[in-house]
Amino acid sequence: MNATESPRLTVIGTGYLGATHAICMAVLGFEVVGVDVDQRKIEKLASGEVPFFEPGLPELLSKALESGRLRFTTSFEEAAKFGDVHFVCVGTPQRPGSDAADLTYVDAAVRALAPHLDRRVLVVGKSTVPVGTAARLTGVLHELAPAGEEVELAWNPEFLREGFAVDDTMRPDRLVFGVASDWADERLRAAFKPVLDLGTPVVRTDLATAELVKVAANSFLATKISYINAMAEVCEAVGADIKDLADSLALDDRIGGKFLKPGLGFGGGCLPKDIRAFAHRAEEIGVGQAVSFLREVDDINRRRRARTVDLVRELLGGQISGKRIAAWGAAFKPNSDDIRDAPALDVARTMHGLGGHVRVFDPAALDNARRAYPELRYGESALNAAEDADVVVLLTEWSDFREIEPDALAQVVRHKRIVDGRHALDAARWRAAGWEYRALGRSL
Ligand SMILES: NC(=O)c1ccc[n+]([C@@H]2O[C@H](COP(=O)([O-])OP(=O)(O)OC[C@H]3O[C@@H](n4cnc5c(N)ncnc54)[C@H](O)[C@@H]3O)[C@@H](O)[C@H]2O)c1
Repeated sequence: MNATESPRLTVIGTGYLGATHAICMAVLGFEVVGVDVDQRKIEKLASGEVPFFEPGLPELLSKALESGRLRFTTSFEEAAKFGDVHFVCVGTPQRPGSDAADLTYVDAAVRALAPHLDRRVLVVGKSTVPVGTAARLTGVLHELAPAGEEVELAWNPEFLREGFAVDDTMRPDRLVFGVASDWADERLRAAFKPVLDLGTPVVRTDLATAELVKVAANSFLATKISYINAMAEVCEAVGADIKDLADSLALDDRIGGKFLKPGLGFGGGCLPKDIRAFAHRAEEIGVGQAVSFLREVDDINRRRRARTVDLVRELLGGQISGKRIAAWGAAFKPNSDDIRDAPALDVARTMHGLGGHVRVFDPAALDNARRAYPELRYGESALNAAEDADVVVLLTEWSDFREIEPDALAQVVRHKRIVDGRHALDAARWRAAGWEYRALGRSL
């Protein structure tokens, strides 16, 4: 096959990233096979059901299946026969008991695919991995694939945001191609042709740089969030106002307002584990000092969770035990059902552990939260969770919560007290309606 011809694609690992990639690529006109070891997930996807919450994706899955261009399988043999370009999108979670990334799944996927690769194909890593992984996996592929060194590995880090995953995949702000040859670059350009035709900028680079771009980007974003939250700690100490401070910084073009929102901090399946894995990897390769600040970024972030619990305690007059607490939010961010390392659930569980009667509500993540933390109680709606509450704590900034009127909420609670963990509400409006309003980094 000519390097510039349209390739047939496989996507290995059909979670948040892989399912989105497979579906969008099929919608863009490619023949795609999605592969996963989770039989149930594959059955769901094949029957037209997206196994997680992502706006716009269910409609695109139906469209892709109807087109006949998208199939799902658990067979690596079938995938290898079919595909010219294989995207590896499996998870790289934090290794239990360590800050390092767990590469078990990436290794397993490559080792399952390689023995079936008997012709010249491109394997493309999209998972977030420690620098050096691609070089090592190149060796594994060459050793295990019948086609040997004909099989090439490239790295194409993914920057999609859950909640905006479809748009970010169809119209990314940039593509990074970590390649070892012109052939790999041409294959990738063919695999992203419709996206490149939109004028999307491409950075062509080496494998190590491509791996680093992703962790560097996430480290920067995490640092920005923790920076403003560190300022919130200072504001709290002197009675200054973090909201006004953040707004003032955001007006400076050189700083900008994105990721400069004070509050409960970051969580999810990427930022926390990525900065830890980066710091760990940097120590392994002898440059730990260069990114040791990421440990502090992590600590600042964790302190916000503890401080949110303190605020609730203060508002309740010093005692959480026995109090009814409505916890609004479970997902790590709005427009997602992802509860991996979710700050909201961390806070809810701490308050539960301190004897609070916590009732959680989330517009999309309730099922996931229930499964993971059956010890917590759950409401059927934001207002239902707030019935007879001594305090309402907003932990994830869903617009559903923002749109609730102070007077409507006042009808159901026992006490008009609210802790705004995300600076999502208009403080003046809530106070004018008779509420005791508290937020991190703001004075009374
Ligand atoms: N979720 C995001 O927003 C996002 C964004 C950018 C990058 N990433 C990175 O993408 C990767 C995947 O993240 P995710 O959020 O999609 O994870 P996920 O846990 O939702 O999905 C991983 C999938 O891989 C499957 N899998 C595991 N082992 C496998 C194997 N050997 N063969 C085939 N499939 C296998 C799992 O069953 C699961 O469906 C991670 O490295 C993550 O850091 C994620």
